Amino acid sequence: MKPTALVAGNWKMNGLASSQAELEALGNYLRDGDTADCGVLICPPFTLVASFAANAPEGVAIGAQDCHTNKSGAHTGDISAEMLRDAGAAFIIVGHSERRADHGEDSALVCAKAEAVLAEGLTAIVCVGETEAERDAGKTLDIVLGQVAASVPAESTPENTVVAYEPVWAIGTGRTPTVEDVAEVHTAIRGALVERFGEAGNGFRILYGGSVKPSNASELMAADNVNGALVGGASLKAADFNGIIDAY
Ligand code: G3H
Repeated sequence: MKPTALVAGNWKMNGLASSQAELEALGNYLRDGDTADCGVLICPPFTLVASFAANAPEGVAIGAQDCHTNKSGAHTGDISAEMLRDAGAAFIIVGHSERRADHGEDSALVCAKAEAVLAEGLTAIVCVGETEAERDAGKTLDIVLGQVAASVPAESTPENTVVAYEPVWAIGTGRTPTVEDVAEVHTAIRGALVERFGEAGNGFRILYGGSVKPSNASELMAADNVNGALVGGASLKAADFNGIIDAY
């Protein structure tokens, strides 16, 4: 059966207390609109997770953008999955390409972080994606499937893990792969999940991320094995995010 779609907003390092208005606008839209066919998730910066979780409109889940592998301890500046669960997060993104690039996170670390998420009973959104140089060298599937194999924990199930395919060169650039290219990668990820997890592999949600906006969401979301979107810039304004939700 086709997994229920998820539209997830990753606010990255954006958002102040006043951003609560965007969350409220999203809630108003969901109350008024016929949009209950997909799950809706907002992942604000850590500083807003608790307040957003406390005030989340019905139908909107709140998540976080990263976590440490440990539950607690001497890790200055870090935050654990347990703390994020305690703050009200239901999902945690791990392995975003900005973390992989800016903080040198490799797939082994990403997998350990995902395991920490699962251990708290939360859902991990495991990000994978190739750079432009890797795509130009014809290595897209090798890179992406290698990251999936090494970053997705053995304990993963369709309920506790989401895979997000985000070509690095499409993030924040306004450029997107063709629908055919997206379908090719998503179908390859699906194949790898089925090979590894059996029939359950068909139940995992595989999100596409990278310059998703209201004007291209419908065609991207219609591609084979695309079960939702991980949205950066366009998730910061409820009106744009609502437009993407409308694609479902
Ligand atoms: O996590 C979200 C992605 O990095 C996509 O960001 O929609 O701004 O391209 P973007």
